[in-house]
Amino acid sequence: MRNSKNVQNYIFGRGSFQNLSEILEPRRKNDEAVVFIVDHFFKTNLQLPVHPNDFVLHVDTRDEPTTEQVDEILGKAKESVPSPCAIVGIGGGSVLDIAKAVSNLFRNPGKAEDYQGWDLIKSPGVYKIAVPTISGTGAEASRTCVMVNHKKNLKLGMNSEHTIYDQLILDPELTITVPRDQYFYTGMDSYIHCVESVAGSYRNAIGDAFSEQSLKLCRDVFLSDDMQAFENREKLMIASYLGGCAIANSFVGVVHPFSAGLSMVFGTHHCLANCIVMNSMEDYYPSETIEFHKMLSRQKIELPKIVSRPLTASEKKDLYNATVIHEKPLTNALGPDYKKHLTEERVSQLFEKMLGV
Ligand SMILES: [Fe+2]
Repeated sequence: MRNSKNVQNYIFGRGSFQNLSEILEPRRKNDEAVVFIVDHFFKTNLQLPVHPNDFVLHVDTRDEPTTEQVDEILGKAKESVPSPCAIVGIGGGSVLDIAKAVSNLFRNPGKAEDYQGWDLIKSPGVYKIAVPTISGTGAEASRTCVMVNHKKNLKLGMNSEHTIYDQLILDPELTITVPRDQYFYTGMDSYIHCVESVAGSYRNAIGDAFSEQSLKLCRDVFLSDDMQAFENREKLMIASYLGGCAIANSFVGVVHPFSAGLSMVFGTHHCLANCIVMNSMEDYYPSETIEFHKMLSRQKIELPKIVSRPLTASEKKDLYNATVIHEKPLTNALGPDYKKHLTEERVSQLFEKMLGV
């Protein structure tokens, strides 16, 4: 049994972002500096409580975070602030994950790729605060920070209790500008985490409780007429947090490994890739796949086509390798002999079905 850890402190509510300055103040003893890692979308439209010696970096999140990118950001941050008193991540899952990884690497030697795996981080990172600006990934609560490693054809995070945030600021006002499609795809990440978690074999009562409540909130939001109404943005922010807690207490299943395959081979963003996979999960999550179709149609969301030609032999091989490498979630979903079921042929067939090619 694992000794579970959750985020230490959180503030939830409309306008809670205003508390950031107050939370940072006691940490700024001797004028110590703060590193802000912020989604580039907020470059001009968010007032940060910045002091002159702080370091602010705006991150372009069009591509998924990579290990090289994390190393580069760490280098820049260290050059400007060798020993920060806090790291603040403001943005979606990508930014929150980058901030976690940078926090860990400030206090652990080496490169980001050295810590891709389970429980490899030895020392606690720099005190870190997450301010999510889109809901669903659960990055604000989870014990991982997912990065693509192109050299190793691997998408994996630093799974460690040191990766968990110290403080959250959950302000539903910040999600008001999220585009509709993105809001749906990202929110679905939470739904999918919990669907996978409650169907797996590594279940426990606490993980289940988090998942069940998160699923209830997701259903309220995505089966309603206006998923982006303020009340629903509040609910989805909580669903995302609880979904992250659920994953910290269990594992995902079949969807995330296939989604990682799409991200590795076609560069598809995590949340959209999840939706493309979930759309064809009748064999693994039958009732939830029907429910997912209902949510798509209720919200009038059409999934884009990411490939419009047959898959090449090398793409099939890469997709297979990038999927079956995810041993823990696939064992959770299908048992230790999962490779007997997920043969190269079966995996290719599933991808062809998902991609409609
Ligand atoms: Fe996810």
